Order: sequence, then C-alpha cells, then structure tokens
Amino acid sequence: MSITEPKHNGSPTPTRILGISAYYHDSAAALIEDGRIVAAAQEDRFTRIKADSSFPHHAISFCLETGNVDENDLDAIVFYESPLVKFERLVTSYHQTAPNGLRSFLKAMPVWLTNRLWMESEIAKEMGITKKVNICDHHLSHAASAFFPSPYERAAILTIDGVGEWSTATWGVGHGNTIDLMEEIRFPNSVGLLYSAITYYTGFKINSGEYKVMGLAPYGEPKYADTIRKHLIHINDDGSIVLNQHYFNYVGGLHMTNERFHALFGGPPRVPEDQITQKEMDLAASVQVVVNEIVMKMAQHVHDQTGETNIVLAGGVALNVVSTGHLSTHGPFENVWIQPAAGDAGGALGAALWMWHQRMGNPRTIESPDSMQGSFLGLNIPPASDIDDAMLKRLGGSWEILEEDRLQKRIASSIIEGKVVGLARGRAEWGPRALGARSILGDARSTKMQTHMNLKIKFRESFRPFAPMARAEEAREYFDIEQESPYMLLCYPVTESRRMEAPDDGLFGIDKLKVPRSEMPAVTHVDYSARVQTVDHVRNPFVHSVLTEVKSLTDCPVIVNTSFNVRGEPIVNSAEDAYRCFMATEMDCLVVGNRFFERDKQTDRPMSDEDRQEWLRRFDLD
Ligand SMILES: [Fe+2]
Repeated sequence: MSITEPKHNGSPTPTRILGISAYYHDSAAALIEDGRIVAAAQEDRFTRIKADSSFPHHAISFCLETGNVDENDLDAIVFYESPLVKFERLVTSYHQTAPNGLRSFLKAMPVWLTNRLWMESEIAKEMGITKKVNICDHHLSHAASAFFPSPYERAAILTIDGVGEWSTATWGVGHGNTIDLMEEIRFPNSVGLLYSAITYYTGFKINSGEYKVMGLAPYGEPKYADTIRKHLIHINDDGSIVLNQHYFNYVGGLHMTNERFHALFGGPPRVPEDQITQKEMDLAASVQVVVNEIVMKMAQHVHDQTGETNIVLAGGVALNVVSTGHLSTHGPFENVWIQPAAGDAGGALGAALWMWHQRMGNPRTIESPDSMQGSFLGLNIPPASDIDDAMLKRLGGSWEILEEDRLQKRIASSIIEGKVVGLARGRAEWGPRALGARSILGDARSTKMQTHMNLKIKFRESFRPFAPMARAEEAREYFDIEQESPYMLLCYPVTESRRMEAPDDGLFGIDKLKVPRSEMPAVTHVDYSARVQTVDHVRNPFVHSVLTEVKSLTDCPVIVNTSFNVRGEPIVNSAEDAYRCFMATEMDCLVVGNRFFERDKQTDRPMSDEDRQEWLRRFDLD
C-alpha cells in the first residue's frame, strides 16, 4: 500500500484523489479535490447496462474531465475494498463447506487468480498508469461515505450490507477527520444476506429485487416473523446476529437458500414469472419486521456505547427506507443522516474521502446542510448547448426555449393539468434515487396518475406507489416526518388529517393500491406510508421553485417524483438518453436544460414501433 504525501493546504495545486468501486455490482468513480467532491457517478449511467459491474472507465473519464485533471496527475487512487481479504474469505468459506461449494469455487477462481487478487496492478493497467493504488476496507469506505460528508462534527456510524470482505455490519464513531470502527458482525452472519435470501425465495433478483420485497411488505401480514426468528436467525440484545446456516446455501453454493429453507416455508422458491401470492407478501412483511427489529437493536446498542446524538448510515441495508424511517421515528438518535449512494457505488466516494482525511490527515470542513451538494454530482445537462441542440435536432426534436422562471411555471401548470413531465436538467444524481435532476414528475392528487405512469411510461405493474417530493417548508403538514429527507431515504406516514378511509375488502395486491388512501393517492402506499423527499431551496432551487408554483396554483406543494427511466433501464444520463426515453414512452412533456418539448409537437418521431421494441429489448425486463 502506498500513501502519497499530502500537499499543504493552500498550495496552488490542489490534491486530487480518485475513488473507485468495481467488479461486484454498481461500479462507480468519485473525484475529490482538497476534500471537496468534484464529481461522482455510477458506470451504468454511461454504459446503459443496469448495475454494471465492469471497470468504470466511463465514470472515471467523466470525473477526470469534470475535474480537468489527467490520470497521471492524480495524487492518489483508492479502491473501495481489500481484494486480498475478500479472497481469504472466499477460500475460507470454500474450505468450510468443501466439497459442496466446488462448482462456485471453480467458477470464481480463474478471475481471482488472474485479475482481482492483483487489484492494484489491474487498476493501473485499466487506467494506463504506473501509479500505485491504495486500498480502503469495504466497510470503512461505507463509513467514510456516511460520516465525512455529513453535517455533524461528531456522530455514531453504522454500516450494514450483504458482505464486504468479512464484515457485514460495523459500528463506531466519527469525530473531526477521524473514524474509529469499534465492532463488527462477520460473514456469514449478515442482515443483508438474510434479506437477499427472502428476495431470492420470493422470486426476485438479489441485489436489485430487494426494493420490490420492501414495496410488497405493506400488503402482507408478518406471519412468518416468528418462524424466521425461531429457525433462521438469532438476534442478540445488542443487535448482533447469528444466521443458522442449516437453512442457507450462500456460503459455498450458487443459490441463497437450500431445501430445508424451502421446506420451512412450504415449497420451492417462486418462479420469477409466476403470480405473486399472499405468501410472498407475508414473507416480505415478515422479513421487514425482523430487519426493523435488528436495525433498532443495533442502533440502540451503538447509542448506549457511544452516547452520540447523531447517527450516520451507509451500506445496502441503509437503503431500506422502512427501517431507516422507523429508526428516525422511534430510535434513540436525534438525527439520522444517510449517504445518498449508500450501496457499493458509494464506496468509491468513501474511499477517496477516507484517503484525504484519515490517511493524509487533512482537517474536515463541516458544511450546511451537508457536503453532498444535493447529491447532484453527475453528468451536467446545461440550460443551453450547441452540441445538445444538434443532437436533439438530428433525433427529430422540436422545442421552445424558456427562461428559467417561465420554465418553472410551465412545468407546474403542465403537472396540474394532469400531464407527465420528464425533467433532465443540471447535474445528474449520485445514488439510486432521482431527486429532481433526472425525474419524471406528475400530479400527486390524481387518482389515475399511479396507473398511468406505471403502464404508459415505466412499462411495469408496480407494488410500490410513486414517491412524493414536497417543499421542505410544508412537508410536515402532509407527512409525519421527524426530520428533513433530502435524499428520499426515509419512509414516513402520511399525516392523519390528509388520509382517506379506504374500504378495500376483497381487493388483492396491486388492486389495493388503486383505492385512494389520501388526498395524494399517487404517493400513498396501502399502509399510508410514503418515501418522502423534502426539497429545499439550497440543494435544489429550480425544483423548489416549481413546487412553489404548484402550491400557488393548487395549495398543495407535493408532487410525484419517479426516476427518469423505463423498467430495467438505468436512470437517463445525457440529453440524448432523456429524449429517447421521452419518445419511447407516452410522457406528455420533456424538459432538457431550458428546452421545453411537447409530445404532439414532435413532428418527426425518431423511433418506429420496431425501433422502440428494439430499444426496450436492450434492457432486462424480467
Ligand atoms: Fe457494501
């Protein structure tokens, strides 16, 4: 491991550090300059391959271009986990289960022995440089991504995911420019892998279907929670866990669960194309209850041990908005802050920040509201650009240019007319949530919006309602929020006074969602919960003004915000992605920079039905 000597603060040449995560899922890169985040992006936004795990060439190029730095001039490059320790875990796991895991072992070994194990030289080779690459442990990368950009001088830190090297959860304290991780839970005991096992068993894809399981939970009863507690997991009072490997197959096998697991829940895993039944909903509800319990116990333990009033979170489980909302409402901490890219992509940023603060010893400047710049750290779509104009013309686009305030008014009036508006403007979001830079917007008050957006625009049936964005000033009048939720990572109930009685006897599954449950039916789940994004004028002045305009017209400062993509597609990145997605769907209006497009004015549709089908086939639509 090499450490580049820190430059002195105030030197004319800033210190530039590149963080990289790659080769598992959600590859990403992040560039910081004297500790300030310059750029951060996930590879899949550029390659258009969802959760792309390949080396993030495009994301790195984007970061270097944004920072105007050549790779050879970087002061340090940091990888987000230790390949050597991860390899040790793989070999040890095989040794413990041999000969059972032989197939998966043989499948994994060649790439490890030829490339992954020698990550430092692999990265140098991929980037065409001779510079040494530094390593930051996986959970330390998560912890650094959570603490260093947070608004707190001191905070407790909790990281929870499937697995890194050996750790599956860690906790500790961050203070100033230092992180001390104090305890860990180790593989194979893992909250994330328990959740992934249920995800697999209920017929969804692990590492991406977890959101679906979370959305399914409100339709079910937690009738399997006791079975899970009795047979699958032992939960200690301090939140540490032991998973009963008698029922799992992930240590040495190719699948998450085994025959005993299937027998425990009365049959084989659901085949992905098969009908979702009450059983899957009950299992989803059950694992959610168990995970809520574990997260609360962990948080209570961390609170007891540290005495801190604030907690920061990262790791894939921190993206479970139900658990984090529960923690925010019922937990022992006054404030909860979650890294917007809490999954493994965020490790790239954490690794770079760890290098700057902890290894190089540079002090930390605490910013308000935090140091994430609203998480708008990706590719920029400027208000106007000749290059984008030429490309959009080539695709047959027809638009009008509007000044910013007129554009905001036009978006607002379109929304309340019931139109669906695609918004691609400014720098793209870092993290899995669209926050108003690559979003599709609609009227939250409409009873038809949920179905319309799902079937005509996203091409999916969804158990999840859409998420609301609300002006931070009035969010409390509509949702029982405990604190701001700028990154849409906390789930809170719709406030009692906004709810409606919803007699839904006899309805099943998604039909329940079609019964209005509040004056904002498009964003209210069947249990009255909502994944709220609070929008303030500091982080996102443009969308804040749109919401102000909507409020002036309707008295309701809440709209639908869903990610700008179709099912199976990564969120759109460039102006071209946005226009193509607009034309392949039945979206009514599109905003690209300061351009306003209306569907019926697009005289020359660039996509025939065949083209459109071909375009959709590029994505994994299962
Ligand atoms: Fe992770």
